[in-house]
Amino acid sequence: MILVQLLNLVHNVLIILTHPIWDLILISKWKESISFLLSFSLILKVVFRRYKAMQLRILTIVLYCLLQMRVSFASAMRASAAAWRRQYPSNSVAELPPRKLASAWHRQHTSRTVAGLPPRKLCSLGTGEQVHVLSYNSLPGKVDEFELRVQTLASQLLEAHRGVSDVRICHPRCGEVAFVVTMVSKAESDVFEAQVLPKMSATLEDVVEGGSASFSRSGSLMPRAHSLTSLLDYLKGSLVGKHYSEHDIAGVRGELGRWFPRRSEYEQYVHWDLESPEKYTRNVVYSSSDMEVLLMCWPPHTRSSLHCHDGSSCWVAAVEGVVHEVQYIEPAYDKGFIASQLRDPTGAVGACGALRVLNVQPIGMPATPTTAYTNNSVGLHRIENRTDQPALTLHVYAPRLRKMKIFKENADGTAHVTVAALTYMSEAGEKTGLWGKHTDPDGVLDVHAWNIMSEARNV
Ligand SMILES: [Fe+2]
Repeated sequence: MILVQLLNLVHNVLIILTHPIWDLILISKWKESISFLLSFSLILKVVFRRYKAMQLRILTIVLYCLLQMRVSFASAMRASAAAWRRQYPSNSVAELPPRKLASAWHRQHTSRTVAGLPPRKLCSLGTGEQVHVLSYNSLPGKVDEFELRVQTLASQLLEAHRGVSDVRICHPRCGEVAFVVTMVSKAESDVFEAQVLPKMSATLEDVVEGGSASFSRSGSLMPRAHSLTSLLDYLKGSLVGKHYSEHDIAGVRGELGRWFPRRSEYEQYVHWDLESPEKYTRNVVYSSSDMEVLLMCWPPHTRSSLHCHDGSSCWVAAVEGVVHEVQYIEPAYDKGFIASQLRDPTGAVGACGALRVLNVQPIGMPATPTTAYTNNSVGLHRIENRTDQPALTLHVYAPRLRKMKIFKENADGTAHVTVAALTYMSEAGEKTGLWGKHTDPDGVLDVHAWNIMSEARNV
């Protein structure tokens, strides 16, 4: 009997502690709470008289406690939702669906345009984010009301979470405000324009000059992009050292990818060999012992020789059109060539093993890289323009590439190799006069000129 009384006491205490009356009191519904408490206690007494079994009593108490906990939680959630609604009315931008990740959209829209496709845009280098800028000026006698509504709008925008990557609100003085809202994609930007901007305008319509924004613009977020000048400044400051192992390969590649080429910047370096249209041309944009930057011009269906890069790094960036980089495994060299190279490091000629393709990758197509990198530890390579359109590429060699091996396949599958110097069609925008009939048919090497130069310099 004492145990039953004790259980009844515990039961009543639990009812008081777990009952949603505390939540209900907070929202001024104490009458309903007390009524609920009394009616439930009455039902419980009837049930207990009918079923005397102790197990049933205990089970009933446990179930009741669980029920009360659930009711308490639901009540708390209702109170929270009510508070949320009071803070953000039904037209609140904060009620929009959850923010979507923009990565898929970015992957789709950040590719660069090539010949035959729509013109490339500066925004295509960036994230694809869209910015809305709106500024409002209060009517002279409506400053207080204007400030109040701006404060409400600011709260809603700062809490907005659909498609928003950034919200800035510039409030230079009372009666003036500028909203800068950045959306993660064009699609989300369209939703913002269709659903949110009209509500903002309606909110401020009767308290601002002209009944609308004094300034309203939207467009792409300006990405961090290089001009040719800033790219060269970066390269000059970054590319030092005497070997490719000293370079930040990925870092330089990333900066090259941020260059937005404008024809007016590199027009002076575009030269074609009109006498030999099968040759591509090499044009010096910048040269020092640490680095050289070349603009190469590729007529349709031209290609370079297969070559190595000595101890230099070689970065390639698409400027106009599409090229293919074909990489080869470095072959084994004939003993005679190795001996010849030891005697004459700059003019050796010899034989090597079969040439095997390692990889082929387009550069500059939509959804393909716009840059490439190689050095002798990667292998050999050549650049090909396989298209019917001219192509331009920017090449960065560090340190400056003075000599390299070029390779040619023989009919029997073996190949021969030559070490020779490089020659240029133009330097600083002016034709060198060295580019002519002696230039290798591949358009790269002037072995004859190199031999003359070697003799003159005794190297
Ligand atoms: Fe190369």
